[in-house]
Amino acid sequence: LEIFNKNSTELKTKLKQLSQAGKVVALVPTMGALHSGHLTLVSEAKKCSDYVVVSIFVNPKQFERSQDFDSYPDRLENDLKLLKELQVDLVYTPNSEEFYKQPFFCEVNLPALTTKLCGATRPGHFPGVALVITKLFNQIKPDLAFFGLKDYQQYVFIKQLAKDLDLTPEVRGVDTVREGSGLALSSRNLNLNEEQRKKIAPELHKALSSIATAIKGGGDHNEIVSKAKQDLLNSGFNKVDYLEVLQDDLSDYNGDYRHARIFVAAYIDQVRLIDNIAIC
Ligand code: PAF
Repeated sequence: LEIFNKNSTELKTKLKQLSQAGKVVALVPTMGALHSGHLTLVSEAKKCSDYVVVSIFVNPKQFERSQDFDSYPDRLENDLKLLKELQVDLVYTPNSEEFYKQPFFCEVNLPALTTKLCGATRPGHFPGVALVITKLFNQIKPDLAFFGLKDYQQYVFIKQLAKDLDLTPEVRGVDTVREGSGLALSSRNLNLNEEQRKKIAPELHKALSSIATAIKGGGDHNEIVSKAKQDLLNSGFNKVDYLEVLQDDLSDYNGDYRHARIFVAAYIDQVRLIDNIAIC
């Protein structure tokens, strides 16, 4: 496992040699604190490429509150151990002064895709993600890049970003990894107590599945969704940020449920959980 902590000449030479040798390079961008969801992305990347690069960079531009940034877990040592076990080829861990050399002016955004769902309550978050991903794609120039479909909105706008700006990689989504209860894996699950995790949180995936069944059964989607929202609140969620049906490309639902997904973000106390599933 080779570790590079800046976009150095050595890193550029290494990547150029791989490209000249016709090797397929895959990138898995992360912010560290790796869990099995990330490791699934790495395994998928390994299957499809000759050389896997994992970036670990806690991107300050995607945090709305500096407090969240400061409290983001730093588990570099453990992350490196896990990546070594998975036989990842290269880890890129730039620091933020290097990555965003001052003065820095650039912004990247795709408002049509970044202002709905999670973007509605966190307006600076997705532009921050779009910026870091543009820079990482330009620096590493991967052939493939892997993202979890749990963050489906992020996956969609990054795919569009790569297309719009002619960035090198083909962007691929990897299915959400779930616990036996249906709960999607997330580092935020660690902030739930035993009862919340076992009894309340799994209701999120159950709600999505029952909405999917009801829509396929021909019910009115607005009525189905508002009933499911009330059920979530009754089952112990204290706030539902959104529960929405959209087409796969994030446009408004047009009744074609074969190409539509259901999206949810809801709170158990202070813990915000998100999930989404395809209807078919
Ligand atoms: O999903 C994440 O972990 C981050 O948003 C990403 C894609 C690594 C960008 O910082």
